[in-house]
Amino acid sequence: MEQKLFKITIDNITIEVEPGTTVLQAARKIGGDVAPPAMCYYTHLKGSGGKCRTCLIEVAAGSAADPRPMPKLVASCRTNVMDGMVVKNITSEKVLEARAGVVEFLLINHPLDCPICDQAGECDLQDLSYEHGTEGTRYEFKRRTFDKEDIGPYIQLHMTRCILCYRCTYVADQLTDHRVHGVLDRGDHSEISTYISKAIDNDFSGNMIDVCPVGALTDRTFRFKNRVWFTKPMDAHRNCDKCCGKVTLWLRGDDVLRVTARKDPWGEVQTYDGKPGWICNDCRFHKKHKYDWEIEGLMNMSRHSVIGQGKYPGLKMPKETIGDVMGGKQPNLLMDIHKISDVNEPGVDLSKIPGPATSNTFENNQ
Ligand code: SF4
Ligand code: FES
Repeated sequence: MEQKLFKITIDNITIEVEPGTTVLQAARKIGGDVAPPAMCYYTHLKGSGGKCRTCLIEVAAGSAADPRPMPKLVASCRTNVMDGMVVKNITSEKVLEARAGVVEFLLINHPLDCPICDQAGECDLQDLSYEHGTEGTRYEFKRRTFDKEDIGPYIQLHMTRCILCYRCTYVADQLTDHRVHGVLDRGDHSEISTYISKAIDNDFSGNMIDVCPVGALTDRTFRFKNRVWFTKPMDAHRNCDKCCGKVTLWLRGDDVLRVTARKDPWGEVQTYDGKPGWICNDCRFHKKHKYDWEIEGLMNMSRHSVIGQGKYPGLKMPKETIGDVMGGKQPNLLMDIHKISDVNEPGVDLSKIPGPATSNTFENNQ
């Protein structure tokens, strides 16, 4: 029997989705600004979402059967679509105001060290603050800070930047055999850490770096090597017996500075045959030569991304037409204007007249 689809209208655009779809996923199907930002939800990590509140939306009508609005804003990553639901995201002033508040809260403790942070240029919080942040802070108290911690040979944790989205702990729970880190303590004291600085060392631990929406977990083999927008991201693959082997290489010249999983437009790892394309630590940390990989071509990136500046796949330069209109002759770049124009009288030396030239300058000369 054919499954009945549910109709949902988000920011005045109506689509049909399968029952069980979240409002966030439905909005992503429409795409663009209609999709709320998400800092903690991650499609491929079970249990993620519901922590950061950046994806709040207003439900103007709960369903066709019960069209009453929901009394409070709800997290779109944790709210399922109902048939006939009407949702407002960017068309709701309440949502935009609440989102500005959430950003202010997230930035209470997060340092504004983007100029020296490796995540700058690909940081979800940086983008979110740019879109929804205010220019100043009202916070006057001491911010919490932590020492940097090397958790294993390849990953550094800079807890001061962590926004406690829990994504990395879900990676550890769901992708690796033995979870050795998590959220310790409660409330203001909560921190991501290992139990007594234990090293994180298993085949898929590097994926924590990819899911971290900020610069709290960074790749020690790439730290401070380059700004991400100076690198050239190329899609590449290799035969790997541990993972899908499909990656993005971040090149500077011929040097492979960093290897990451390939990301979709929402910043999550791409899906291959319905499975998430997590990559293993071998591919990520040990295959740092171009000859380790079959390079497919430039990563398909958004033109608006700072990383994409000047790197457009399939860029076509417009045809130079001057030769055509001038009968094959190239233009003379240095011309004596007096030879081809009567407007500038030879007796007028523009650098010697007092002030800018006016029509009188030329009339008086005649
Ligand atoms: S370290 Fe990164 S991924 Fe882990 S909880 Fe903090 S912000 Fe989230
Ligand atoms: S993405 Fe929905 S609460 Fe964080």
